[in-house]
Amino acid sequence: MKKIAVLIFSLACFAACGKELKSFTPGEIWPDDNGVHINAHGGGLLFHDGTYYWFGEHKVEGDAGNRAMVGVHCYSSKDLYNWKDEGVALAVAPEGSGSDIEKSCILERPKVIYNEKTGKFVMWFHLELVGEEYRSARTGVAVADSATGPYKFVRSLRPNAGQRPINWDESKKKGSTDIFERDFEGGQFSRDMALFVDDDGKAYHIHSSEENKTTHISELTDDYLDFSGKFARVFPDRYMEAPAVFKRGGWYYFIGSGCTGWDPNAARSARTKDIMDEWEELGNPCVGEGADITFGAQSTYALKVEGMDDAYILLADRWRPKNAIDGRYVWLPIDFEDGKPVVRWHDEWDLSYFDKK
Ligand code: DGJ
Repeated sequence: MKKIAVLIFSLACFAACGKELKSFTPGEIWPDDNGVHINAHGGGLLFHDGTYYWFGEHKVEGDAGNRAMVGVHCYSSKDLYNWKDEGVALAVAPEGSGSDIEKSCILERPKVIYNEKTGKFVMWFHLELVGEEYRSARTGVAVADSATGPYKFVRSLRPNAGQRPINWDESKKKGSTDIFERDFEGGQFSRDMALFVDDDGKAYHIHSSEENKTTHISELTDDYLDFSGKFARVFPDRYMEAPAVFKRGGWYYFIGSGCTGWDPNAARSARTKDIMDEWEELGNPCVGEGADITFGAQSTYALKVEGMDDAYILLADRWRPKNAIDGRYVWLPIDFEDGKPVVRWHDEWDLSYFDKK
């Protein structure tokens, strides 16, 4: 059965090979320049010097694909439809090497940002050490001199050890603090994560913390390689995962999910004028059939399309945990209605959608 599935998968990729893509077809096979389904799950995009780079989890076939057997894969594109395979940007370390990113660790949701001051490309990702399943709840950082890598693993950590958030008094009134206190000395839980670089160059690491109960938004140091120690607890006891943060017209927006493992659930959204202050929840941004399960997907990134007015895309994953490599990408345009993000399903769409608005 598995062999037949692989054959169908390969034929679908082969059929599409060589064809220039002119649209997005959410949930379908998405062939790269070699005709192979893109392998960059839980990913994030970086726009640098006129090129988009897509970084994501390189999955392998079967259940083993839920662990990192290869590393972080990178693709590049000028138009967002057609992606060139740039290979493995961050490779996992050999088994038995003692590295935190040893083969078969769990390495999820890699995101890359560029530091204007140092000229370095900085990658952060959610990391679970080999054999610890989801108990390590660490974040890892790697650095490179060029966008496509190779990235050198720097270290992994639990953030903000021994630190109180800037909004401690208000946030503790709104939710529980037991897990926060438990992890106070050793560092806070860090699972699903996102990065956001603000207009002033300050970068933030946004992660599900406190056993996923509460989200933390942490400022990074100027070189983006560490936590500055300044952070806020947001959405206390709301169990958010899959964060994506972007800015539009002076508002910071958040799109995320609830916590149901690999199964899809209803997305969440929120906005604020100050990234470290209170967020106003705006409910499920998805509308229409399938909205209650984010069209079978889970958010991973929100992209501002370069050179277009008011053009934002929600990037989401349709996980296939039984055959991880077959996970699908659901990219959909974000509309804004009364200041709220709204996401609708489209079988097929292209960037001219934003011209018609
Ligand atoms: C949901 C998360 O968003 C994914 O990144 C992954 O950690 C799965 N849970 C694992 O069940």
